[in-house]
Amino acid sequence: MELLPLWLCLGLYFLTVEWRNGSRTATAASQGSCKLIDGVADCQGQNLVSVPSNLPSHTSMLILDTNPLKTLWNYSLQPYPLLESLSLHSCLLERIGRHAFQEQGHLRSLALADNALWENYKETAAALHTLPGLQRLDLSGNSLTEDMAAQMLHNLSSLQVISLARNTLMRLDESVFEGLESLQELDLQRNYIFEIEGGAFDGLTKLQRLNLAYNNLPCIVDFSLTQLRFLNVSYNILEWFLAAREEAAFELELLDLSHNQLLFFPLLPQCNKLHTLLLRDNNMGFYRDLYNTSSPQEMVAQFLLVDGNVTNITTVSLWEEFASGELSALRILDMSQNQFQYLPDGFLKKAPSLSHLNLNQNCLVRLHIREHEPPGALTELDLSHNQLSELHLAPGLVGCLRNLRVFNLSSNQLLGVPTGLFANASDITTIDMSHNQISLCPQPAALDWVGPTSCVDFRNMTSLKSLSLEGCGLRALQDCPFQGTSLTHLDLSNNLGVLNGTVAPLWDIAPTLQVLSLRNVSLSSGLAELDFSGFGNLKHLDLSGNSLASFPKFKGSLALQTLDLRRNALTAFPQRAVSEQLLRSLQTVYLSQNPYDCCGMDGWGALEHLEAIADLAMVTCNLSSKVVRVMELPGGRPQICKWEQVDMGLLYLVLLLPSCLTLLVACTIIFLTFKKPLLQLIKSRCHWSSIY
Ligand SMILES: *[C@@H]1O[C@H](CO)[C@@H](O)[C@H](O)[C@H]1NC(C)=O
Ligand SMILES: *[C@@H]1O[C@H](CO)[C@@H](O)[C@H](O)[C@H]1NC(C)=O
Ligand SMILES: *[C@@H]1O[C@H](CO)[C@@H](O)[C@H](O)[C@H]1NC(C)=O
Ligand SMILES: *[C@@H]1O[C@H](CO)[C@@H](O)[C@H](O)[C@H]1NC(C)=O
Ligand SMILES: *[C@@H]1O[C@H](CO)[C@@H](O)[C@H](O)[C@H]1NC(C)=O
Ligand SMILES: *[C@@H]1O[C@H](CO)[C@@H](O)[C@H](O)[C@H]1NC(C)=O
Ligand SMILES: *[C@@H]1O[C@H](CO)[C@@H](O)[C@H](O)[C@H]1NC(C)=O
Ligand SMILES: *[C@@H]1O[C@H](CO)[C@@H](O)[C@H](O)[C@H]1NC(C)=O
Ligand SMILES: *[C@@H]1O[C@H](CO)[C@@H](O)[C@H](O)[C@H]1NC(C)=O
Ligand SMILES: *[C@@H]1O[C@H](CO)[C@@H](O)[C@H](O)[C@H]1NC(C)=O
Ligand SMILES: *[C@@H]1O[C@H](CO)[C@@H](O)[C@H](O)[C@H]1NC(C)=O
Ligand SMILES: *[C@@H]1O[C@H](CO)[C@@H](O)[C@H](O)[C@H]1NC(C)=O
Repeated sequence: MELLPLWLCLGLYFLTVEWRNGSRTATAASQGSCKLIDGVADCQGQNLVSVPSNLPSHTSMLILDTNPLKTLWNYSLQPYPLLESLSLHSCLLERIGRHAFQEQGHLRSLALADNALWENYKETAAALHTLPGLQRLDLSGNSLTEDMAAQMLHNLSSLQVISLARNTLMRLDESVFEGLESLQELDLQRNYIFEIEGGAFDGLTKLQRLNLAYNNLPCIVDFSLTQLRFLNVSYNILEWFLAAREEAAFELELLDLSHNQLLFFPLLPQCNKLHTLLLRDNNMGFYRDLYNTSSPQEMVAQFLLVDGNVTNITTVSLWEEFASGELSALRILDMSQNQFQYLPDGFLKKAPSLSHLNLNQNCLVRLHIREHEPPGALTELDLSHNQLSELHLAPGLVGCLRNLRVFNLSSNQLLGVPTGLFANASDITTIDMSHNQISLCPQPAALDWVGPTSCVDFRNMTSLKSLSLEGCGLRALQDCPFQGTSLTHLDLSNNLGVLNGTVAPLWDIAPTLQVLSLRNVSLSSGLAELDFSGFGNLKHLDLSGNSLASFPKFKGSLALQTLDLRRNALTAFPQRAVSEQLLRSLQTVYLSQNPYDCCGMDGWGALEHLEAIADLAMVTCNLSSKVVRVMELPGGRPQICKWEQVDMGLLYLVLLLPSCLTLLVACTIIFLTFKKPLLQLIKSRCHWSSIY
């Protein structure tokens, strides 16, 4: 492997200074436009152009944020000799007089964020040097370069916390932070730092928190800040992280390297106290299994470390990468959004205290579960968005997931999980198996069954509360697949036909269910109406994307708060009685995208004024082949519907009347036409004595 170009880089965290007065309840007075409470003068946003001089002289905290001061004049703070904290955020400050802080011996905390202090930085620097007891200094957002910062900070040996975030620092050398012996926290995030010379932080013997997020650092090699506890280098362009090969004990507890371009697992200090390691969104993988080489020479990287005229070469065996660093205190490991195709044997064993492991969005194909791997302390395991087709459980292993609470297997290619994986997982509350083509075991399998399994059994998992089986290609549920659980959240969405027209398979868990998602499961209210009467605790029900033609029944189910009925085949709103009963608890209901009939709006009256209809503006109905927004319908029933609603008897009468009249007229004419002969006929037949 060729020699890597030399980058000497080294490595904050800045606690936002708590300017507020907390929750004191002392009575507030007011002086001019400033609020005074317990020695705190709050003059934020009062359009002041200078420091007010009429505040009580014992004021200990002065907040002047967002006032257009522009200049902090010499001696303007002299009336307040007991000031401990001064905040001047966003005051358009360009200039701070060199005597501005004269006799401010008590000042501990000074916030100068978001001003324009680059303009007269020399005078500002002189002013800062008159503050012997200053502990916290916020200079963020002042367009300072490293030279300006160096001048301002030089020998401020009492400073404990400094923020230089959002400035224009680019290169750090040992001169920038010279003499800051007490510094514990340094925030350098959101600058343009691309190089940190060796020794830049050497004088900062008490430094514990360093934030370098959002800079342009290409690597960190020879990391040797043993006293540092918190290091944040997220959002840089790191390709390497390499700790010094020292035997020294590192205090490092939290390392955030997320959102970089690391290719290899970081080469951590041999001895550390790391409990949180964040590696999200890099390009990392393990490679040993992918290369078949017998020559160890090809498996090393050499780092050339140049310091002045001294050159050191560090050789690192890349395939043994994880073996180098200590992980025994690790509790949280986030390896999501990387390129991991496998985890080396023994990798997880090295982290026996691990409680959270995130492997979301990698390329894992297989996971071997062995004794202590993953470690028994694990409570959350996220394997979602991988290509897992097999979880392999070592034969005879039980109780491997003893403490697991959340298991996310979403979006893999699993057909099932090994029998016994969940045996003894007595703390598990949440399983997400969505987007795997699994099936549910028809029979409980024998615990000693070994070999590939192509189904999952959730029965008798008493601790299970939340289960997502969305988009699992589930066929119609048989019997009671969730028997023996007390599920509160169940997602069966996007499984066409999973309920086969009845909610009977859910009756076992009906009393405990609180959230049920049945979106797009091809429910139709063909045979029997859906009956949710036994679901006494159901709070949220999603029935969208089905073909329901009538409202489901909710007798007794009065806990319901949210109901989603979008994209169904409803033509009418529920009857008034039904809605009234529902509305007692319902807070949100979605009704849009149904082919309601504008003339069948009987139930609308009860719903109309309801604020609970979240998509009221989108509810439409069909009015003689037009689609109309229900809200825009004129007050009463549309004119066109009135005809339809008229009493049918009357309608028939009206329709029949013209025909009857025509018939009558015709009869009369016929009668008159044939009157004579008819009369004559009758006369001749009856031999009446003629009166003609
Ligand atoms: C100070 O405390 C009071 C009372 O709790 C609160 O109303 C006020 O907003 C606080 N001031 C600041 C600047 O937080
Ligand atoms: C503060 O006083 C010095 C002289 O001691 C002077 O040079 C400077 O201009 C003054 N600054 C301001 C902001 O008035
Ligand atoms: C800082 O302090 C050192 C020793 O006390 C001194 O030699 C140096 O001149 C000081 N630097 C500045 C800029 O004051
Ligand atoms: C590191 O800094 C970034 C940027 O401020 C922040 O989003 C992230 O939460 C920090 N990491 C930790 C562990 O605090
Ligand atoms: C590695 O190569 C050797 C011969 O060079 C071969 O016998 C062995 O099977 C290979 N191993 C893998 C994992 O490909
Ligand atoms: C180089 O190695 C020597 C001896 O191992 C060590 O004393 C020195 O600090 C190293 N220098 C650098 C720049 O790492
Ligand atoms: C390195 O440079 C220093 C002066 O900068 C010199 O005293 C020393 O002898 C040099 N060392 C080597 C090994 O060249
Ligand atoms: C696992 O559970 C079974 C009973 O279901 C019990 O006999 C066994 O002791 C448990 N094993 C562990 C390691 O907890
Ligand atoms: C599982 O992971 C997926 C994708 O990362 C996420 O959307 C889902 O919310 C997770 N499930 C749980 C229960 O956290
Ligand atoms: C669940 O437990 C009950 C009672 O403990 C038992 O009768 C039943 O067989 C168990 N079912 C399964 C699938 O293990
Ligand atoms: C409904 O579910 C099926 C099966 O999962 C899926 O193919 C289809 O895209 C889903 N339809 C919608 C509208 O989500
Ligand atoms: C679905 O229900 C119908 C009648 O209710 C039944 O005949 C059919 O067998 C069921 N289908 C499945 C897959 O259970």
